[in-house]
Amino acid sequence: MKLFILIILFFFALNVIAEGSSRSIVPDTMTERVRACTICHQDGDHDQARSTYYPRIAGKLEGYLFNQLRHFRDGRRYHQPMALLLENMSDDYLQAIARHFSQLNVPYPSPESIDLKSNEIQLVEKLIRLGDPQRNIPACSACHGDTLMGNTPYIPGLLGLPSAYLTAQLSGWRSGSLIRGQVTNCMSEIAKQLSYDEIIAISRWLATQAVEGEAQKVLSPDLIKRCQSIFLEGVAQE
Ligand code: HEC
Ligand code: HEC
Repeated sequence: MKLFILIILFFFALNVIAEGSSRSIVPDTMTERVRACTICHQDGDHDQARSTYYPRIAGKLEGYLFNQLRHFRDGRRYHQPMALLLENMSDDYLQAIARHFSQLNVPYPSPESIDLKSNEIQLVEKLIRLGDPQRNIPACSACHGDTLMGNTPYIPGLLGLPSAYLTAQLSGWRSGSLIRGQVTNCMSEIAKQLSYDEIIAISRWLATQAVEGEAQKVLSPDLIKRCQSIFLEGVAQE
């Protein structure tokens, strides 16, 4: 792992050198500058994109990406190689990186093939489309969009991501772990209401869905209010 981080930092340093050199052979474009990122976030339709833990970030909403980049930089979300890479970057630069990835349009990997039992499918589809009022869980689709492709500007799409990554995120929120449990928000509160079996079933189900449709642009006022901390976090930067 240490060696891996060193390799990434080396790539990153190369880019920085390229930036400072007038005789650079590496063109100074955002694509070159984020080369260190795409070592891990290899988006596209190849097996590796699916079999690893690394989440796809191409095409995600800019507002959501920007919030996450600041979380990693400021220690509210934890992944050491990323924390090192983002350490000295300004908000403006993180915004530019977020914009770059949000505008990337590369093919999605094919869905994972996992066999789900019919009772699992039923349970998941109910949570996704109807939620569970008794536990104060709104339908996932009410926030993440009918297509589950996200809701501008801060609510991410849930399709095209590895099931292992999804399980880790939901479990991280549920257990308050270092990965992602450091910030309380509307989503962490929902994840805390889910059982571990539900988290596994939801993550598997999401990873087996074909990616289709666009992000939604409408969120009801009560759900905006519920996610107020996230909306305020984003607006504070605009
Ligand atoms: C060593 C591999 C690695 C490198 C290099 C890396 N990332 Fe990541 N990235 C990850 C992993 C693993 C996660 C998931 C972390 C977790 O468990 O929450 C992640 C998560 C993210 C997320 C959150 C995605 C989501 O859906 O919430 C964003 C945004 C992101 N990375 C952007 C970047 C950018 C920009 C760079 C370059 C500056 C970068 N990453 C470099 C491995 C990497
Ligand atoms: C009240 C609105 C709301 C509802 C309902 C909701 N979410 Fe979320 N969800 C969010 C927000 C906002 C985020 C982004 C959190 C952040 O910025 O860290 C999020 C993030 C996520 C992520 C992380 C995605 C990534 O790329 O890392 C997953 C997974 C997720 N939600 C799953 C679900 C599931 C499953 C349900 C239904 C059981 C659900 N959500 C219901 C608002 C909601």
